[in-house]
Amino acid sequence: PRQSRTIVYGTVLHFLRDPGTQPDPQAWQLFDPGALVVGADGHVEWVGAEQDVPPELGNGATPIDHRGNLVVPGFVDAHIHASQVDVIASYGEQLLQWLQKYVFPAEKAFSSAEHSRMISGLFLDTLLAAGTTTATVHPTVHKTSVDAFFQEAQARGMRMLAGKVLMDREPYAPPDLKDASVQQAEADTRELIDRWHQKDRLTYSITPRFAPSSTEQLLQMVGRLYHERPDLWLQTHAAENKEEVDTVHQLFGGRSYIDVYDRYQMLGNRSVYAHSIYIDDQDRTRLSQTGSSIAFCPTSNLFLGSGLFDLDAARGAGVRVGLGTDIGAGTSYSLLATLNEAYKVLALQQQKLPAMRGFYLATLGGAEALYVSDRIGNFQVGKEADFTVLDWAATPVLKRRMDVAKDFQERLFALMTLGDERAVRATYVLGQRKYDRPAGVQLPS
Ligand code: GUN
Ligand code: ZN
Repeated sequence: PRQSRTIVYGTVLHFLRDPGTQPDPQAWQLFDPGALVVGADGHVEWVGAEQDVPPELGNGATPIDHRGNLVVPGFVDAHIHASQVDVIASYGEQLLQWLQKYVFPAEKAFSSAEHSRMISGLFLDTLLAAGTTTATVHPTVHKTSVDAFFQEAQARGMRMLAGKVLMDREPYAPPDLKDASVQQAEADTRELIDRWHQKDRLTYSITPRFAPSSTEQLLQMVGRLYHERPDLWLQTHAAENKEEVDTVHQLFGGRSYIDVYDRYQMLGNRSVYAHSIYIDDQDRTRLSQTGSSIAFCPTSNLFLGSGLFDLDAARGAGVRVGLGTDIGAGTSYSLLATLNEAYKVLALQQQKLPAMRGFYLATLGGAEALYVSDRIGNFQVGKEADFTVLDWAATPVLKRRMDVAKDFQERLFALMTLGDERAVRATYVLGQRKYDRPAGVQLPS
């Protein structure tokens, strides 16, 4: 049975807009000590300083004491593969060879409903343990993988976006991991949309894998469906790796990789292009004009040796950008660990990532990139109360660094740089605790 109203006590931080790279205190709200009031329906009723909680909300509410910890909106992962749990940390290849050698064999196993269910559950519990409450997710080409993923997400009450992977062109769609035809791919997609789209907190995203695994007819179908159904989302990969970009040019021609997707009418609101490393100003202008988003996936881009994403150019052009872990090319489920690597990717380009912008990207920025910021991403009244409680002193290294830090920004930057799953004290979905780690206990290895 649902409890009544709850009041969460702790240091509360959330964002109203992108703080950018220069201090912009209007972009965030920090309440220390703060309080977050969550209604019986799991929505935010009030946020502010602890001493200002209105008495009519406070009376009879259940207190949850996270004082001394940092309470932030649940992390948003703007690009991840539920099918690549077993692929993480696979040695020695760049994108196209890595797909053939490791990813495609692992994805074949998702023809089994039992395997799909087992991995989806493990995947979602791992996200919760990393403080992530919303993600846009690639399962596999199999309908079973989508059914299992949405079932498990629904059972946990999580806001999730996903869709059947579409792939029909060899060799980047291997013969036994391929849509039988464009007609069948469309029929399967429509069936899954009917079954899952906008059921509870689930959203269907049309998911062509990437251009090299797509025939022209497949991309035509994707563009047609996306325009026929303006209530649907779209996700794919773009311009991640130089050899991939050359392949796309050979297969499709066009001015650029983004231009190929543009030709098939795939750009627009609610669309997310993972990576987008090898793009130019014309591409950025098109992405921005059309309301298309980019998922910046630094651990993946470094692990596969793909390249360095230019965040300042994308944000400067007005493109929405979220952070993606891109498991299993990425090397951590934690958006804190992802921010640590993002900082270094930007440092190599003489760009800066202040902690406030980092936490914006991991929360409201991700929600804006995924077009779900009307529901989640910060603690504005009425939003769904998904939040993560972070432990400043989860490890001896963190604890010592916090002891010598002179102000909040310095502490937040140390948490962003040194933190990972160990810093996640608890994760709440619609105001209910879905993950809990006793203070001081290290994660099992
Ligand atoms: N491009 C096409 N498929 C994939 C994938 O599974 N992972 C990554 N990182 N890039 C891709
Ligand atoms: Zn990916």
